[in-house]
Amino acid sequence: MSKSLKINKLINPFEKTIFVEGDKSLSIRWVLLSSLSKKKSVAYNLLKSDDVLSAISCIKKLGAKVKFIKNKCEIIGTGLNYKYKKNLILDAGNSGTLGRLILGLLINYKNKFKLVGDKSLEKRDFSRVTTPLEKFGASFSKKNNLPILMKGVNNPKSINYFEKKGSAQCKTAIMLAGLKSKGITKIKAKKSRDHTELLFKYLKLPLKVKKFKNYDLISIKGIKDIKPLNYKIPGDISSCSFFIVLTILSKNSKLLIRNININPTRIGIIHILKKMGASIKIINKKNYKGEKIGDIYVKSSSNLKAINCPTKYNSSAIDEFLIIFLVAAKSHGISIFKDLAELNQKESPRLYWGSKILNYMGIKNRVTKKSIKIYGNPNQVIKKNISIKNFLKDHRIFMMSTIAALTFKSKGSWNINDLDSIKTSFPTFLKTLKKLS
Ligand code: S3P
Repeated sequence: MSKSLKINKLINPFEKTIFVEGDKSLSIRWVLLSSLSKKKSVAYNLLKSDDVLSAISCIKKLGAKVKFIKNKCEIIGTGLNYKYKKNLILDAGNSGTLGRLILGLLINYKNKFKLVGDKSLEKRDFSRVTTPLEKFGASFSKKNNLPILMKGVNNPKSINYFEKKGSAQCKTAIMLAGLKSKGITKIKAKKSRDHTELLFKYLKLPLKVKKFKNYDLISIKGIKDIKPLNYKIPGDISSCSFFIVLTILSKNSKLLIRNININPTRIGIIHILKKMGASIKIINKKNYKGEKIGDIYVKSSSNLKAINCPTKYNSSAIDEFLIIFLVAAKSHGISIFKDLAELNQKESPRLYWGSKILNYMGIKNRVTKKSIKIYGNPNQVIKKNISIKNFLKDHRIFMMSTIAALTFKSKGSWNINDLDSIKTSFPTFLKTLKKLS
């Protein structure tokens, strides 16, 4: 049984500098892209979390060689065609990113293979990738949920596709399949994180992107081979966000979080929290292989105000809303977050669980299938013990609950289950927390 965490007092004031682990989206993309090159790719600071280790075990099964030497990871891939095996089973574990991206990569895999995942991944929608991949010529045993059997196609044909959900996973799956297809694949994609585009550009792959207000037009040509990718993975803004909010909601504290990926498609949380009156600055900005990196300096912030959150931030803050809800709960006034149906499509239905946890804390809120209204109260005192069951073992539910327990005054104590869930994205979360207290 997974361990639980008990918390019965607030964190003491702190003034520290920390680092967080490597960005998950970039780590998974580095592993998958490196598996396509016959030459050696090297990464430093690769996130060693379960999601990334699942990606590594998948590409090993497909014939890639992987070596870890301290903080360095080396991959020698197979080239664009993976090794064909009979009865291949790939396990994406808890990772939607890996599950969806790897189906795109296997578009030209001519044997049938099976993709499986854990209980949480089995509940998530796969039709968003099986639908476009069928257009390339792939066939599936079923379209919606894992486990799924897929058979690729010898000569995938390029497609035109309108990606309407604003899902970077879906966009990337199509881009990867496009790389292996004849001709030009065109995607009209609702805005979402653009790490794949930046990596493709850095690798000088035949990619064109035209940006419009609400969507991008992406075209990608089929290729014959791909160069190795050497990369130093910057810190993950999603992991960093738990410490940003911890500092904002704590008394007399200051924190410098160094070397964070501040890609504009990922920093919705910074814009939202600044609008709410939080004291956050990004300093020491620099560019790295197309990505932007910086240090984040944050201070305790009182007098926070509610927000009617502009939906233009939804995509760039999608993994951070749970922790943003805590700030809304401690603000003056009523905050509103709309058009967030996608939040219920994550590792667990997070809009629903965000509301539940606020209920346990005694914070009034109204939730629908796609929106939440939070009645903030800066002086809220939790009246009873809280136990978080976290039935789908969602890492971000665990970390949000931990930050709530350390920052909201309480007459009771917290018991937060499924401590092991942090291994999904941020295995050193508790170690980092201990550095502050
Ligand atoms: C990811 C994209 C996002 C995000 C996920 C990681 C990625 O999902 O929630 O944690 O690395 O592409 P969407 O596919 O909904 O954009």
